[in-house]
Amino acid sequence: MSSPPFWQPCSATSEPAAIAVWPADPDERCLRRAAELAERLGLPCVESAGDTAALLVVRTARLELAFPGPRATKALHVDFVGGPLGYARRRNRFGSLYQAVGMRGGKRPRVLDATAGLGRDAFRLAYAGCEVLAVERSAVLFALLEDGVERAMREPEIATRIGGRLRLLRADSRDVLRRAAADIAPDVVYVDPMYPEREKAALVKVEMRMLRRVVGEDADAPELLRVALDAARERVVVKRPRRAPPIGGAPSHCCQDRTTRYDVYMRCAGR
Ligand SMILES: C[S@@+](CC[C@H](N)C(=O)[O-])C[C@H]1O[C@@H](n2cnc3c(N)ncnc32)[C@H](O)[C@@H]1O
Repeated sequence: MSSPPFWQPCSATSEPAAIAVWPADPDERCLRRAAELAERLGLPCVESAGDTAALLVVRTARLELAFPGPRATKALHVDFVGGPLGYARRRNRFGSLYQAVGMRGGKRPRVLDATAGLGRDAFRLAYAGCEVLAVERSAVLFALLEDGVERAMREPEIATRIGGRLRLLRADSRDVLRRAAADIAPDVVYVDPMYPEREKAALVKVEMRMLRRVVGEDADAPELLRVALDAARERVVVKRPRRAPPIGGAPSHCCQDRTTRYDVYMRCAGR
């Protein structure tokens, strides 16, 4: 039996877009990188944007995800240096996330981010001093994430601040957590599954809609939570839209800000 195409996570419930790699800049480095990436991911490498549903656009400066066509939106790339994340980083505005994972005083838990996506939460936690293993199962998102981290680490301020505390792993977190031996188990498992699709599409960020087209829905999030609860030493934190129901049972407590709620499931003491 042939295995499913790599971009289709085993649990995806909607049809993910077919993807091709496109070297957008004509220089040699860009062409080589596109060919390598296409081979590594098992994707076609195309000479023009054409009518492919989705493109991993290889530019000299960075890697982007784009959906060409009549309703094309701005291409997506991972940016830890500028943009909203850079702004928030400079102002240190991640209060409820920090509170949810249990950072207080000098305490910096070891976190396994089980749903790394574009790596923003993982980056915030590592930047704040936590040791973070960021796990992502989609090969396309993982490539974007790797590219973003690589570029961020060229910034001396970020490289010095994060050091080797942010590690990336392409895998299904359920497998990683099932294998995590008690002595290497993370203090905190962080879970941020794709938000449920809302009818008011305008309210869902364009970026999230783009992600959904690649990874589908994370319908197996309740199972991930169960596995996480077995593996975490201290707590599991689940990020949810503020008014959405919890994905598991009632959490031990919640931390929230204007739009987001963090459901915190505490493990029993003495583990
Ligand atoms: C909403 S995004 C996460 C966004 C991320 N917190 C950020 O700050 O950019 C959810 C991601 O989790 C990934 N994911 C869901 N279940 C997973 C699993 N079992 N193992 C690894 N990755 C998973 C999806 O592929 C998707 O990229």
